[in-house]
Amino acid sequence: MSLVVVSNRVARGKPNEPMTGGLAAALLPVVEYSGAIWVGSSGRVRDGHQKEPFAEVEALGTGALATLDLPAAHYGGYYEGFANSALWPALHSRSDLIRVSQGDYRSYREVNAFMARALLRFRKNKTAFWVQDYHFLALGAELRELSVDDPVGFFLHTPWPVPAVMQGVPNHRELIEAMLAYDLIGFQTEEDRQNFLGYISQDLGLTAEDGIVVSRHGRTQCQVFPIGIDAEKFAQYAAKSISHPDVSRLRKSLNGEKLAIGVDRLDYSKGLVNRVSAFDRLWTEQPNLARSISLLQIANPSRGGIEAYGNLQNEVARLVTDVNGRHGEVDWTPIRYLNKGFSQAVLAGLYRTAQVGVVTPLHDGMNLVAKEYVAAQNPADPGVLVLSKFAGAANELDTALLVNPHDIDGMARAISIAVSMPLTERRMRWEAMMKKLRGHTIQQWSADFVATLEACRGERAAVAPL
Ligand code: G6P
Repeated sequence: MSLVVVSNRVARGKPNEPMTGGLAAALLPVVEYSGAIWVGSSGRVRDGHQKEPFAEVEALGTGALATLDLPAAHYGGYYEGFANSALWPALHSRSDLIRVSQGDYRSYREVNAFMARALLRFRKNKTAFWVQDYHFLALGAELRELSVDDPVGFFLHTPWPVPAVMQGVPNHRELIEAMLAYDLIGFQTEEDRQNFLGYISQDLGLTAEDGIVVSRHGRTQCQVFPIGIDAEKFAQYAAKSISHPDVSRLRKSLNGEKLAIGVDRLDYSKGLVNRVSAFDRLWTEQPNLARSISLLQIANPSRGGIEAYGNLQNEVARLVTDVNGRHGEVDWTPIRYLNKGFSQAVLAGLYRTAQVGVVTPLHDGMNLVAKEYVAAQNPADPGVLVLSKFAGAANELDTALLVNPHDIDGMARAISIAVSMPLTERRMRWEAMMKKLRGHTIQQWSADFVATLEACRGERAAVAPL
């Protein structure tokens, strides 16, 4: 069976180019080694009605990458509008940031329908479609409208909130009902799956037994598939990249001082303000730690056209300036703050240089930075991961120092514990995490999802729709 993977953002197979967000980085090896076709947005738009959506196709490992120009009239309403100003805030339990119009919802549905039409071109005799993330909640329903009877699965990379939050999204009922056209819906954690099933029962009045929902579309299986990483590849990158100019310059500049690292998109879900405040608290309460630990915070700007992101960028920049102004010395900068992205190969070396990894989102589907930080460590002298308990990764990486990102004192304490943790404890914690990462790779994740999807479709045929 051939596989078509669909996501809004795609990545090209160049390890030396920066990547935006965990999804594109995660899917790259899946497509490279599975022979799948990966279809997504080109990032460009096109005017007018296109009968045949324009796609550029290029080879990607054993697979291919096809990028589409999305319709100009609907792109803004779809991407900055409904996807990122209604769904993203709701999925991260920030209903207060929802800003959306009916026009945005219509554009979102138009782009989903457009993508469904475009996918027909990649359909072969036996094809399974695997749709990724909140940009395409209704794509399965649009494919069914076009009489596609193949297996169609969906994986959500973000969290799914409690029903009351989802109810704050305009048109939520119509949209989530449409999701039941998928044969299989995958979540990062059991909590996300339970929240989704809670909504299905409260708002749609449908019952689920063992995660199986029967609706007018037929049978939908809801299951947890925590996403993994290629830990070995990351470890190799890390070992090699020590000689990369960025990495060696960073090392030289430290003069024996310890380093904590944070790597995030500049997004309000990532808890950047609280993290910087925790370092502020640490240096205020324990001035002896000034000069002995600094923070390298990489914060790649994202979705800059949306007001909430512009505000956040200003707020973090102001706070970093304030903290550096108060704690800095003529020869010491407490926080090195960089608004740009790095390739995975360089990031791996930066992670290995840092004795502490700080991954403290307020809410996160999985957070692959946490996993990458662990995979990049030197086994003989590993660093310590300080991890938010509200990241999906905390379920697996439970020997990290788990923190509540709303508790500034608690985070400051955890950082201070991390800085002085003895080698034996660091190794014990790291080995336990590494074992989990090796036991559950990105390749296994995708093979598992696709096998379940194919099996689901067979069972769907046996169930009469409601
Ligand atoms: C998160 C989302 C992805 C998204 C990425 C980058 O990881 O789950 O779907 O691609 O952020 O965001 P952007 O809006 O730049 O694609």
